[in-house]
Amino acid sequence: MPLYFYFEYIVRLDKFICGSTELTRSLAKKALHRGDVTCNGEVVKSSDFKVKNEHVICLNDQQLHLLGARFIMLNKPLDTLCSTIDEHYPSVLRLIDVIKADTLHIAGRLDADTTGLVLITSNGQWSHNITSPKKQCAKRYLLEVAEPLNEQLIETFKQGIALNNEEGLTKPAILEILSSHQARLTITEGKYHQVKRMLAAVGNKVVKLHREAIGDIELDPSLALGEWRYLTPTEVESVK
Ligand code: URA
Repeated sequence: MPLYFYFEYIVRLDKFICGSTELTRSLAKKALHRGDVTCNGEVVKSSDFKVKNEHVICLNDQQLHLLGARFIMLNKPLDTLCSTIDEHYPSVLRLIDVIKADTLHIAGRLDADTTGLVLITSNGQWSHNITSPKKQCAKRYLLEVAEPLNEQLIETFKQGIALNNEEGLTKPAILEILSSHQARLTITEGKYHQVKRMLAAVGNKVVKLHREAIGDIELDPSLALGEWRYLTPTEVESVK
C-alpha cells in the first residue's frame, strides 16, 4: 500500500465536527441525522464517514475547519483574572471570543491589578516552556513605584534579593531606571507577586505594573487593553 494512503485520511466525521465546533459527540450525531452536514456539497449522515484532506465539510452551509493548537497574545486590562474561571473579577478568557475557549489555558499569570502581555494557548508543552522554572524564560515589566529609585538598586537586583518568607535569593534581575519613579525590570522567575515583593524588599511599593514582553515575544503596541490576536509562527517558534 502506498505511503500517501495514510496521510489522506484525517478523522471520522463525528470527531471532525466536534473538533471544529462547540458540538458534543451526541449533538454532532444529531446534526448528521438531520442532514445538516455536507461533504463536497452532498449530505452525509454517517458518523464514521472518513474525512480526507480534499473534503470540504459544511454544517448548515458553514465550512468547518479542524482546530489545531492555538497561541494567543492578550493585552490584559485591570480588574481581570488570569484564571480559567470568574471569581472576584472576570477571567481574561472572557475577552477571547473563540470557539472552544475552555480548551485554552494561561501561560504565566498576572495579578488582577497588573496589565499587559498574557499568553494563552491550548498547547501544554509550549506553556510549560514559559512557566517551568528550569527554562528561566525572561519576563519584562514596566513599573511605577511610590518612593524614588536609586542607582544602587541596579546592582542589588543583579545580585538577587531575599524575599519575605522565601529561602535564598532571587535570580539575577535586570533593572533599568527610567525616571525617579519608573523602571523596567526583567526577571527569569515567576514567583508569587515577585515584582511587587522585590520592590517591597527594598522598602518601596509598586503602584503600577505592566508586562511588556515574555521571552522574545513583545506585546503588540497596536493592541489596546482588552484586545488580543493570534501569535505569528515566528512568535510561536521563539518559545523553546
Ligand atoms: N509580579 C507581580 O508582583 N505581579 C504580577 O502581576 C507579575 C509579576
